[in-house]
Amino acid sequence: MLCFMKVGKAFGSLDLMLHSVAFAPKESLEGDFLSTTRAAFLASHDVSAYSLVALCQRAAPLMTNGGSVVAMSYYGAEKVIPNYNVMGVAKAALEASTRYLAADLGPKKSVDCISAGPMNTLAARGIAGFTKMLEHCAEHSPLKRNVFPEELGATGTFLASDGAAAITGQVIYVDCGYQIMGM
Ligand SMILES: NC(=O)c1ccc[n+]([C@@H]2O[C@H](COP(=O)([O-])OP(=O)(O)OC[C@H]3O[C@@H](n4cnc5c(N)ncnc54)[C@H](O)[C@@H]3O)[C@@H](O)[C@H]2O)c1
Repeated sequence: MLCFMKVGKAFGSLDLMLHSVAFAPKESLEGDFLSTTRAAFLASHDVSAYSLVALCQRAAPLMTNGGSVVAMSYYGAEKVIPNYNVMGVAKAALEASTRYLAADLGPKKSVDCISAGPMNTLAARGIAGFTKMLEHCAEHSPLKRNVFPEELGATGTFLASDGAAAITGQVIYVDCGYQIMGM
């Protein structure tokens, strides 16, 4: 709340909010999904999905000239990725929240997800077998490589630009094309 008060005071309005927050207890990011505890399920959904709703409640009033909300998701929201487990279920909730928020916040504000290919970050290294995910994506995606951070940034900038004025409620894949592959 304090953060948004400071933004309002300093800038008067807000054009873009990036949601780039996720968490699940480490022990829930290995082995099977069946073993997920209630505590891990609640924590991952609270931090990784509900946070988008809570942030939008505070950001929307500041988007007085229209605005864009962009959240970071992953393919594990729609397909089973080994070890991603409860985080995949939380990402599914995040993507669904994006659609409901887009419907509520229109007509002047957009809410979208970037579904990013795997990227070597501190959080990602907490997922068991993450290096395998990187290798698999590079090997099987049409572009035969992993995505670069600046490519994700450029997509976020595009979503906040006039060029994306007619886009909202979408999941945009920035994954070197991995999502289209069936085999
Ligand atoms: N790295 C990947 O392969 C990848 C792929 C697709 C999507 N994503 C998504 O991108 C986003 C950023 O992740 P990242 O991989 O850059 O890792 P990261 O560690 O840089 O970012 C995760 C952030 O979440 C914050 N966070 C965690 N728990 C929090 C809490 N309780 N309250 C407030 N903040 C909290 C951390 O402080 C950190 O800044 C996440 O939503 C992640 O799921 C990552």
